[in-house]
Amino acid sequence: MREPPIRGPQLPADALDRILTARPEAAGLPAEAYTSAEVHAFEQELLQRRGWVCLGRTDQVAERGAQRALTVAGEGVLVVRDTETVGVFVNACRHRGHELVRSGCAVRRATVWCAYHAWVYRLDGTLRAAPRFGDLAERDPVGMGLTPVRSEEWHGFLFVNLSGDAPSLAATAGNLGPLLEAYEPAGLIRTAEHEYEVSANWKLLVENYLECYHCPSTHPELSKVQRTTHGLDFEDRGLWLGGYLDLDNDAVSMSLDGRGPDWRFPGLDEERARQVCYHALLPGLFITAMHDYLVVHRIQPLAADRTRVVCEVLFPRALLDLGTDPGYAAEFWDVTNRQDWQACESVQRGITRPGFTPGPLAPEEEGLGRFLATMAFLYRSGRSPSASWPTPAAYPGALRTAATAGTTAGRQAR
Ligand code: FES
Ligand SMILES: [Fe+2]
Repeated sequence: MREPPIRGPQLPADALDRILTARPEAAGLPAEAYTSAEVHAFEQELLQRRGWVCLGRTDQVAERGAQRALTVAGEGVLVVRDTETVGVFVNACRHRGHELVRSGCAVRRATVWCAYHAWVYRLDGTLRAAPRFGDLAERDPVGMGLTPVRSEEWHGFLFVNLSGDAPSLAATAGNLGPLLEAYEPAGLIRTAEHEYEVSANWKLLVENYLECYHCPSTHPELSKVQRTTHGLDFEDRGLWLGGYLDLDNDAVSMSLDGRGPDWRFPGLDEERARQVCYHALLPGLFITAMHDYLVVHRIQPLAADRTRVVCEVLFPRALLDLGTDPGYAAEFWDVTNRQDWQACESVQRGITRPGFTPGPLAPEEEGLGRFLATMAFLYRSGRSPSASWPTPAAYPGALRTAATAGTTAGRQAR
């Protein structure tokens, strides 16, 4: 059963309504949306607990018995690889709640084992042994087993839905799944991982990702290898937003010097191979797809003004087998990431200054405007995420252009 709507946070209703009905004249969210502990708690409940959150790649628990303890919306979960499947459980022993693996740590064991009184669980979560409890493990291995958390694998990514009642992940991601298939994401190899802690609200990172209006001034290196003004927003059906921009004519790849392998995923035609495709699956997975590799950002809100980001570079096996050194991608995105985080931190400081009033959005910021409208809708409705939003019907004024037809592209925007 779906959980009921929750009361939205105390934000100026007129500012939210302006975003919902009068874009693009209306501008950003009120500053409190980026600073208030109440808004943060609301978003944690509605988006992180009731939505689908990406925990990473399934190959991070590749071998049987691999176990990782992670935190989602303040709750501890344990990811466990069995022979064929990956399971996710509440990271608490069924006896008296001791953590099974310390949060943030990874182990590899033949069983899940509690260090407190030595209860033992199989890798599928069922209870195998409880010392001095007689035949408890034989009598009720499932009932006394680990508490499962709803999870799904999607293109090599592992997602959880803590509340257990979100629409399916496939429905939530909508047409993003089919769009990504050409990049064969399930089989990609992780070649680099960078972690950052950004002193800014997570929404500023999403907003920043959804526009390249800032690129010429913020990213000198990126602006040499990718065109920053010609592109299209995708016709997104599902809980995601995105668009693409073309590689510069003189660039082969997204790298600091524009050089890279003259190779493309077999499923891409020549035109698509020249596109840098940006996709933000809400609330926190950015997938940037290019002809030779993918870069993925996972966005984890830690507090109203603090966000953890994990950035991973994923390469196709076929390209690595040709002897390609994938370092050019990690180097390029680390430079670009740091520029972005610096900008987001500066915005966080700026919008919270007394007297700041949000200004209008540029035409290139259409995608970001749609994200703001989505958030304004959430604050107003308190409704859980579902595959049916954002939709033009939910806020017709805000999404006046979204119904534009197209196979992958909707409208000129970037
Ligand atoms: S709390 Fe785990 S065995 Fe007692
Ligand atoms: Fe950027």
